[in-house]
Amino acid sequence: MDVFVDRHLGVIGEDRRHMLDAVGYDDLDALASAVVPATILMDRALDLPEALTEAEAQARLSGLAAANTPGRAMIGLGYYGTITPAVIRRNVLENPGWYTAYTPYQPEISQGRLEALLNFQTMVADLTGLPSSGASLLDEGTAVAEAVALARRTTRKGSVVLLDAGLLPQSAAVVRTRALALGYDVVEAADLVEGLQRHDAFAVVVQTPDADGRVRRLDELELIAAKAHENGTTVIAAADLLALTLLTPPAEWGADVAVGTTQRFGVPLFFGGPHAGYIAVREGLERQMPGRLVGLSVDPHGAPALRLALQTREQHIRREKATSNICTAQVLLAVAASMYAVYHGPQGLKAIAQDIHDRTRRLAANLAAHGTPPEHEAFFDTLTVSAPGRARDVVAAARASGVHLRLVDEDRVGISVGEDTTASDLHAVVAAFGGVWDTDAVWGGLGQDLRTSSYLTHPVFNTYTSETEMMRYLRSLADRDFGLDRGMIPLGSCTMKLNPAASMEPISYPGFANLHPFVPASDAVGYAQLIDDLERWLSAVTGYDRVSLQPNAGSQGEFAGLMAVRSYHLSRGDAARDVCLIPASAHGTNAASAAMAGMKVVVVGTAPDGSVDMTDLRAKIAAHADRLSVIMVTYPSTHGVFEEQITEVCALVHEAGGQVYVDGANLNAQMGLSQPGKFGADVSHLNLHKTFAIPHGGGGPGVGPVAVREHLAPFLPSHPLRSDAGPATSYGPVSSAPFGSAGVLPITWAFIAMMGAAGLKAASQTAVLNANYLVARLKDRYPILYTAESGLVAHECILDLRPMTKATGVTVDDVAKRLIDYGFHAPTMSFPVAGTLMVEPTESESLTELDRFADAMVAIADEAEAVASGTWPADDNPLHNAPHTLEQCVADAWTHPYPRTLAAFPAGQKRGLIALGAQDRYWPAVGRVDNAHGDRNLICSCPPPEAYED
Ligand SMILES: Cc1ncc(COP(=O)(O)O)c(C=O)c1O
Repeated sequence: MDVFVDRHLGVIGEDRRHMLDAVGYDDLDALASAVVPATILMDRALDLPEALTEAEAQARLSGLAAANTPGRAMIGLGYYGTITPAVIRRNVLENPGWYTAYTPYQPEISQGRLEALLNFQTMVADLTGLPSSGASLLDEGTAVAEAVALARRTTRKGSVVLLDAGLLPQSAAVVRTRALALGYDVVEAADLVEGLQRHDAFAVVVQTPDADGRVRRLDELELIAAKAHENGTTVIAAADLLALTLLTPPAEWGADVAVGTTQRFGVPLFFGGPHAGYIAVREGLERQMPGRLVGLSVDPHGAPALRLALQTREQHIRREKATSNICTAQVLLAVAASMYAVYHGPQGLKAIAQDIHDRTRRLAANLAAHGTPPEHEAFFDTLTVSAPGRARDVVAAARASGVHLRLVDEDRVGISVGEDTTASDLHAVVAAFGGVWDTDAVWGGLGQDLRTSSYLTHPVFNTYTSETEMMRYLRSLADRDFGLDRGMIPLGSCTMKLNPAASMEPISYPGFANLHPFVPASDAVGYAQLIDDLERWLSAVTGYDRVSLQPNAGSQGEFAGLMAVRSYHLSRGDAARDVCLIPASAHGTNAASAAMAGMKVVVVGTAPDGSVDMTDLRAKIAAHADRLSVIMVTYPSTHGVFEEQITEVCALVHEAGGQVYVDGANLNAQMGLSQPGKFGADVSHLNLHKTFAIPHGGGGPGVGPVAVREHLAPFLPSHPLRSDAGPATSYGPVSSAPFGSAGVLPITWAFIAMMGAAGLKAASQTAVLNANYLVARLKDRYPILYTAESGLVAHECILDLRPMTKATGVTVDDVAKRLIDYGFHAPTMSFPVAGTLMVEPTESESLTELDRFADAMVAIADEAEAVASGTWPADDNPLHNAPHTLEQCVADAWTHPYPRTLAAFPAGQKRGLIALGAQDRYWPAVGRVDNAHGDRNLICSCPPPEAYED
């Protein structure tokens, strides 16, 4: 019988034997016992159900999907019915070329998704009218909170943020969570002009249209902005992008920042996520933007080339001073949304918006004709209708006809029309109020003149209108990128393992894809079961007592976990505990999250062997004893080693009254081997987009569950609209949706269900074997920076290139770019130690692929030696000039001192049948990108074609 685990693991049977021999151990258990400290090594199997086959898992998931009742989602509140064009679903969301790629840190092999993200930025900038937009945020609520944080950093006045009473309730709640830690006041006001007079606000947030669907008059919006600017208050618009095809864009009435979601641009409801949030800012604020930003630069041959811009704003460089903690964002969903705009173009989008609006007006007329006129005459797609004392009955009647409406309160019903709303849905709504659809008249309108400024005029939004053209555009972009579908992505700390097809398929099941996050619990029974299973299974794997799946990235899990720690101390009257100890080697998100949770970061040094410097730790604990809140450590450490003294670290911090946060990004080394919840930690976040097979999507989606021991369980995140999403004692939500990126949870469910206890353990053991095999193959050419006393590493290893750089001038960058010529994605560069490469092969790579990588690294070491020996000059050699483009290799003139063939086919070239060993060369779309040039000349939206004319 076909066993899933044997398909998931890259090495089994003879290959495993060969690798164990190379590493010097009899079997996987013996290797694990040598790697994991005896004090924490598990001696029993994980408590998980027996593994299912692919077919069984899919059948179970079909059953769970069928237990949900999506109906027609007309609830609104930031989530709207939309139609995903099949050409986008099949060629983007379901295409491994798009979903298996990593964040585009290596721009030369990421030009496809960078271009798609540039389209996203252009789309957002055009529709909001603001010049600079980021490459996606995590959701609308966090986007609002990030905009508020931006205003706080830049405005430097006042301690109040003024929120529109019509702000989406979940956005307001996310802002309140953030405000708790940072100590500013949140005030809600229905009359914002009056609110601005009464409060010294650093920011005002205006929702447009508001949660009840009301569209403010233009002069009202202008007045709010003018009043705010008189006082130096930043104006933030939380705006519906589709409505902006018809309404005056925020920039034109005075907003400084616009935020929101792009979900209704063709991205399924997914029970709340994943969806791409957006942010756009006025000139002068671009360097303060949170999250990633794509910008234009050039390659050495003068070709325009994209890359991530202004990275010095980000946490991997500025740590606790970063503009935000966002690392993984929502790239795949941003790509899908941008392609929706590319496919429909400006006229198409406007027609969709106009159609939704016209149908809403007709619905309003039919409701008015039966004595239930909507509350507001100015709306886009959402009506709030009074039904005194019978709102619940109306919602129930609509529900019985398959339509979900919003129960605003006992007397009012909310109705949102979407792209997918049909005539029979509209008739059912009128019937639910006791009327019949009997007029084609219209009632109400936008309440503003139609938008006059143009948008999406760039050819990219006006070319790919036929499906053939669209399919080819998507294919051309995907061809420029290097995803797992091409080869190994050995990025340390990122766990780029297989995203099994069998676990990907269920996310498209309508029962999972089309469910609105705020349907009654009785209509989300399948999700409830799936979430319950996952929380139990993840607890079983980690040894913690409780798990919340709400955080939609690792960074948000960190924030949620630190807020739990903060709440715990406060609940015990320990208000002074605000110091977060963080080892020097920690990931940048740790420090940035601590700052967001209102903590003071104190760095603990690293011992020469890479472990936490225990002397320094003791000193720092003593120095901050009364203020010690928590230590954040990564385990196995970011140096790729299971540190022996982890239990001692936990004990020391506990003795001093602190809590222990173990960053679970490296859980891929621990499944079935050790459990942070049992060896002394109090809280962890996990990255389901690393350890548990959710694809990285080119930079998101992510899921960052937070796992805690019992005493922190009262402080897991909650949600204002779903009491079952978290404890009543919580500090509030960290994400817009009650269960975060619920739509991708079936992936992890399937992965764990198919792997079972033995499979997960084998995965971690194999990940460890693969890393140690690479160490065995490479250690003579590249010093391994840190190993345990046994000479072994965990699931990743750091190759120290500094001696090579010193001897030859060849840099870590040169090696990373040369690897592209050999057909590889580079390992993680210069993290956690500058001048090194961190390699994480994961359990899914085969012996052939590992050997191909090791061979490439050895060949590169030989090339570096040739540079050192003077065979090639330091500024003209295959490493310095890498990556080589096809154009460069076939140019009429070849002036370099090494042969073209070495540039073009360094790994040799064998033609013919792939099954007989032939391999095609992957050609990067551009040569080495000039980062500094791009940052000096910031261009973050699609330049017009004329910009490229000579
Ligand atoms: C050690 C570590 N911690 C935290 C994170 C942050 O996770 P995310 O990117 O999902 O926010 C990462 C991401 O790469 C990581 O490697």
